[in-house]
Amino acid sequence: MNGSGCELNGDESRADRLARLDKLYVWHPFTAMRQYIESEQIVIESGDGFELIDTRGKRYIDGFSSLWCNLHGHRVPQIDAAVRDQLGRVAHSTLLGLASVPSIELAARLAGAMPPSMAELTKTFFSDSGASAVEVALKMAFQYYRNIGQAKRRRFIALRDGYHGDTLGAVSVGGVEAFHKLFGPLLFEATFVDTPNAYYNPAGADGTLEQIDRALAAHAGEYCAVILEPLIQAAGGMLTHPAGFLRKLRELTRRHDVLLIADEVATGFCRTGRLFACEHEGVGPDMLCLGKGLTGGYLPVAATMTTPRIFDAFRGEPEEGRTFYHGHTFTGNALGCAAAMASIDLIFSSGLLATLGDKVELIGRHLRPLADHPNVGDIRQCGMMVGIELVRDRAGKKPFAPSRGSAAAVSREAVRRGLMIRPLEDIVVLMPAPAMDSPTLERMMNITVEAIRNT
Ligand SMILES: Cc1ncc(COP(=O)(O)O)c(C=O)c1O
Repeated sequence: MNGSGCELNGDESRADRLARLDKLYVWHPFTAMRQYIESEQIVIESGDGFELIDTRGKRYIDGFSSLWCNLHGHRVPQIDAAVRDQLGRVAHSTLLGLASVPSIELAARLAGAMPPSMAELTKTFFSDSGASAVEVALKMAFQYYRNIGQAKRRRFIALRDGYHGDTLGAVSVGGVEAFHKLFGPLLFEATFVDTPNAYYNPAGADGTLEQIDRALAAHAGEYCAVILEPLIQAAGGMLTHPAGFLRKLRELTRRHDVLLIADEVATGFCRTGRLFACEHEGVGPDMLCLGKGLTGGYLPVAATMTTPRIFDAFRGEPEEGRTFYHGHTFTGNALGCAAAMASIDLIFSSGLLATLGDKVELIGRHLRPLADHPNVGDIRQCGMMVGIELVRDRAGKKPFAPSRGSAAAVSREAVRRGLMIRPLEDIVVLMPAPAMDSPTLERMMNITVEAIRNT
């Protein structure tokens, strides 16, 4: 007996033991731990295709792609084999001044996979989470201007309700009050402009563009970059942007000569119906942040891709101070890069992109009847990404009292019916894996609609 409580208690089942130890030892992210500890927990044991299976044998459709990262399902033979094969060589070696086979192959593959408007993004800086990819982009943009002799530039523009991860740099450009406000005293100052989402900003996208235009004009030569999640602000509430906003923003940043950072950590790799969100508007950002789906959702590899113009500003002798002093121990991890290669190969070999149109349409078709529901205020869909906003009063756009936890109740009902989803405040969020087969997608949509109608 070591007092850890790890032994089985009497005739306690394995499932009960794990649930007990989870509550004793694991501090879960983005989780109200008191409520969590008081409720009955699900412990995932395995995955099978598009389903997760818990320690009691119950199956759930993985309706949130295991937090927006899974692309092809779980235990995909091609990705499993690629990771096993890499394990037979080496699990990890550093990229600090040293190269590794899988990271080279992946960087070249990524550059080759870029659609025409993004073809200039040929240089890849690896990291290990979406937030790190964003930190890299922010620091890289800041240092880029120092390296080219424009040291007055230190400002960034970001969108209200934008989300870029939880490290302090990413939080500084994060606009989700509930997550970010508390940390205000620790952050650098950023300029926030209104979301261009029509439900939250009836003034429209042009108002947002004007705010950006004004800020850039008022502080000419002081901004490094505008950062945004292109097409849809995911964690801020699945806030879709009107068509044309991204293209106009790109024109504006060119006109004012500031960098555009596209955070495609959530939208990248097929979620929006194309490989990348920027592709929809023929936009090429100066920096592209990738994570989540990069490895098919298998392992923590992220990347910040940029252009030779930016990269070249960092070339020089060590004493010139141009070097980018940033990196993480597991930067470009070999197992992760092998998984990413296999996942990207699978996107193309399976013809996944060509199947997305029908699936996007299937999702839209199932959502349509909800439009008349008295407590559905707005339905937002961008490709395979969906947010259903629940309200107390549709006409007045009045939210429910926060304590009611309306979307949480719907999610619990969905989970009870075998669909794993996780809400954002009053928004029911759906994010199936792009490769999910149509019958499973139908089942997922039917459960969602039933859960909303029965809650
Ligand atoms: C757009 C966006 N950027 C960055 C992140 C942070 O990624 P990670 O959780 O891997 O740090 C997220 C996570 O949800 C995201 O949605």
